[in-house]
Amino acid sequence: MKLATNYLGLTLSNPLVVGASPFCDSTHMARQLQDAGAAAIVMRSLFEEQIDAEQRALRYHVETPAESYAEATSYFPNYPEYQLAPDQYLRQIEHLKGALNIPVIASLNGIRPGGWTDHARRCEAAGADAIELNLYHLATDPTVDGDQIEADMLETVRIVIGSVRLPVAVKLSPFHTAPAQFALAVERAGAAGVVLFNRFYQPDFDIEELEAQSQLKLSEPGELLLRLRWLAILSPHLRGSLGATGGVHAVGDVVKAILAGAHAVQLVSVLLKHGPRFLASLLAGLQQWMTEHGYENVDEFRGAMNLGRCPDPAAFERANYQRILQSWRV
Ligand SMILES: Cc1cc2nc3c(=O)[nH]c(=O)nc-3n(C[C@H](O)[C@H](O)[C@H](O)COP(=O)(O)O)c2cc1C
Repeated sequence: MKLATNYLGLTLSNPLVVGASPFCDSTHMARQLQDAGAAAIVMRSLFEEQIDAEQRALRYHVETPAESYAEATSYFPNYPEYQLAPDQYLRQIEHLKGALNIPVIASLNGIRPGGWTDHARRCEAAGADAIELNLYHLATDPTVDGDQIEADMLETVRIVIGSVRLPVAVKLSPFHTAPAQFALAVERAGAAGVVLFNRFYQPDFDIEELEAQSQLKLSEPGELLLRLRWLAILSPHLRGSLGATGGVHAVGDVVKAILAGAHAVQLVSVLLKHGPRFLASLLAGLQQWMTEHGYENVDEFRGAMNLGRCPDPAAFERANYQRILQSWRV
């Protein structure tokens, strides 16, 4: 049986990848993940603000209440708490490359063209095997036009890709007016793949103190459904790789993501909950499912449920929304 998969032009021994997270701040932990079967790892993100001007970042974090940054309130630490400053990040790539034999994917998080994009080249020089560019953005300014935001994002993608020979994957948000069009534009800009989707961390309200509460909740399995739909929609259209991230908690979820078209299935929350060894049980479960269903390799069933091949494409589309709502009886 062959679990190997091609992701971003890299040959992975299987589709399970550790998603961007603090796991690989520790080389020891990264080795445990590799030993448990991880086929590649994505490092935590270095942020545009962090790289661009440490001075600016200092001001930024001192003056900006952390809660106003919805996604990042927990994993985007205050300035003095950065786990890996830009130079340390590069050293950590070197350490990981020295300790592991699986691909190490560096992660950059930024949306505007600027000097920070040069860090992609530094990650390459430090030995990274690929870059994952996270286009996280929360458009809170009502005067800024959506087209302008997407134009800046695409320009950023082009600049990062133009500065390295490495494959670049782009981690997208689901909140574009036309996510399929934007994903194709990202591919046309030279991306080797897209990763679906960024997860937006949302602050809660403390109704006694009247304060926003930053919180990081690990994902729920139900979050996979949004990813499955868009993997299935994009899979027939994209020539490059598709990565799934968000809500993968069990073997069935891994199988579903591949059926929808994913080349790599990223895991974070489930490993934070159950530890690195859970990877081994996911891999064993994947093999068992493949045996039971007569598949010799993952390429045979990748995309078998995508929008081009699914027996009921309407299940993904608007007509089904109407049918489902109207079928509810009280
Ligand atoms: C503690 C923590 C830290 C994370 N750090 C990053 C990060 O630095 N960059 C990034 O792109 N995503 C980051 N993420 C998001 C994950 O990579 C992933 O997309 C998300 O958790 C959904 O996957 P999951 O359901 O497997 O957890 C982080 C998630 C967690 C829980």
